[in-house]
Amino acid sequence: MTTRAEENLLDWLRDAHAMEEQAEKMLTKTAERLENYPELKARIQQHIEETRRQAQMVRGCIERLGGDTSAVKDATAKMMAMAQGMSGMFVSDEVVKASLASYAFEHMEIASYRALIAAAELCGDVETQRVCEQILPEEEAMANWLAERLPGTVQKFLARDETPDTTAKH
Ligand SMILES: [Fe+2]
Repeated sequence: MTTRAEENLLDWLRDAHAMEEQAEKMLTKTAERLENYPELKARIQQHIEETRRQAQMVRGCIERLGGDTSAVKDATAKMMAMAQGMSGMFVSDEVVKASLASYAFEHMEIASYRALIAAAELCGDVETQRVCEQILPEEEAMANWLAERLPGTVQKFLARDETPDTTAKH
């Protein structure tokens, strides 16, 4: 018999799966467009690989609990609306907006995995707890990297923006 707590855990895992799929889309779009910020591009590409693996691991937890990932449409739509609002694509300061959006998104992921760890612990779902504890440091590392690099990215953007015939935005 499934408890209410287990139902909530499964819902939140579905949300996390949708979140990772959205992250992959956002990061892929950003990386494709970046030309003049090679370090940022490389770090994002690394995190795209991590994100794909995370989505698979979360899907594994969902399936082990007897759920499927087809009920994610609502959550995905909500996340997409939020992500698109934040991503700032096609604006003149695109690389800065993308840095802010990615930083915010990573923190939402961090909060989600912390919530999942607590829920899995309460449910006695050792495997889900272990998976989420494995994913969490990857999100924290990405968030920390973005925070450390933000001043450099902003200053590089501003310098390029001052220079005639130079693309600053991506
Ligand atoms: Fe992630």
